[in-house]
Amino acid sequence: MTPRSALEIVGGQPLGGEVAIHTAKNSALYLILASLLTDEPLVIEDVPRLSDVLVALEILAHTGVEVAWQGRDVRLHAREVRQTSAPYRLVSKMRASFVVMGALLARAGEARISMPGGCAFGPRPVDRHLKAFAALGIEVADDNGDFVARRRGPIAGKVVFEAPTVGGTQNVLLASALGDGAVEIENAALEPEIADLADLLNRMGARIEGAGTPFVSVQGVPRLRAARFRPIPDRIEAGTFMLATAATRGDVTLRGVRPEHLEAVRDKLTEAGVRVVDVARDALRIDATGELEAVDVTAVEYPGVPTDLQAPFGAFLATVPGVSVVRDRVYPDRFTHVTELQRMGARLELTERTLVVHGGPLSAAEVHAADLRAGGALVVAALAADGRSRVLGLEAIDRGYERFSERLASLGASVSRSDERSTGPARGASSSPGGASAASSGTGSAVVAAVGDASSASVRRAGTASTGRDGPSPSS
Ligand code: EPU
Repeated sequence: MTPRSALEIVGGQPLGGEVAIHTAKNSALYLILASLLTDEPLVIEDVPRLSDVLVALEILAHTGVEVAWQGRDVRLHAREVRQTSAPYRLVSKMRASFVVMGALLARAGEARISMPGGCAFGPRPVDRHLKAFAALGIEVADDNGDFVARRRGPIAGKVVFEAPTVGGTQNVLLASALGDGAVEIENAALEPEIADLADLLNRMGARIEGAGTPFVSVQGVPRLRAARFRPIPDRIEAGTFMLATAATRGDVTLRGVRPEHLEAVRDKLTEAGVRVVDVARDALRIDATGELEAVDVTAVEYPGVPTDLQAPFGAFLATVPGVSVVRDRVYPDRFTHVTELQRMGARLELTERTLVVHGGPLSAAEVHAADLRAGGALVVAALAADGRSRVLGLEAIDRGYERFSERLASLGASVSRSDERSTGPARGASSSPGGASAASSGTGSAVVAAVGDASSASVRRAGTASTGRDGPSPSS
């Protein structure tokens, strides 16, 4: 992938048809870490082949976990832990890797993790993780840019998060599931990915109650066992497809979703005039062919509108006549997409962390995705804009949207991956079952082979897997 690698999109075409939603990146990332808690094999089914997932697998391989892809399943076997560290080279690529600390503490009693570093959309500290560990009797010291954590006795006690944190809650669950202490968490994060991790750990033999509510209790157990587990569907990927459908005034059915995880998104879209219809227990139809109107959106913790959809929501609202107001209470400065949307003719004012959107027609432009969800937003806008856009920053988009161009093309969009040598988009990028030919032009196909294609490397050690990325750009 080169810095000029891009999605080329000719917008203005309503999306139509059906798309299957993948399993959740932000669940899979933590589920695979649970492999460290047992010396028996763990199989996580249908894991999205995304660069962030490959980084997490590299970290696990570094600690000694045997990692093998079996089709789209990942088999992990931590017979022994050989390293209790996660090097900067990997942690700097993905903030979520900080959560390996809890798993290493549980299994090996110690961990050395580099500071995760900054982020494209503002500060993302780990102070709540560290306070939680301190409350559980874990010593954490700062050693030349690394956090060094040690468990002196049983991991036990009460954690009261001053405000919810998804990663912090996952870290405590992983640290306390294996062992002989009892842990209570107050003000735990409510995101469905928390309950998903608790469900997996309980299937492995853990005793966790209350996950998905603010009060979680964990009674450590001496041993965890082998398990097979399929992550929940990706509610952020689903939401992005919903907003792309709305922005293009399309009519798309999403298969393989959990509608209960999408309530807030659905409510907002309904308020804007989009029809969201249950067509099956796990399928939603998004019909945006009617009259739409501006709505205000504030991203908050689950079960509210997710921060990860705040930028795509802004892109959709930029297409809707009228005035909308967008805020983000989780990451108040997550607005790197705004200047790029303005290049597409969006009339946006960002003052005091409040985005005022004067909706109207968008026009094509070359834009750059500074982070993953900014990328989601720019793709939504480009699909709706008149003319041919180039969305640069593919390495950010590949962190969270697998085979995006191919799946959008299957909904009738004119979209393809390209690099600077490419001559332009091809309508309806080819679509093979394994995804090997997701790119229809340019060298982008090599990236998809590394990131998006499960079939061409059905069994591969993650330690040797390329992430297909040019360098660190911590986001998730
Ligand atoms: N925070 C602190 N101190 C901490 C931890 C968090 O101040 O020690 C703050 C953060 O700065 C933020 C808020 O608390 O303002 C919530 O952060 P949280 O810890 O919940 O976020 P996270 O665990 O780092 C996960 C997702 C993000 C998603 C957030 C919020 C993963 C791998 N990442 O991050 O997803 O935005 O929860 O829902 O699960 C993405 O997928 O693009 C992405 C960034």
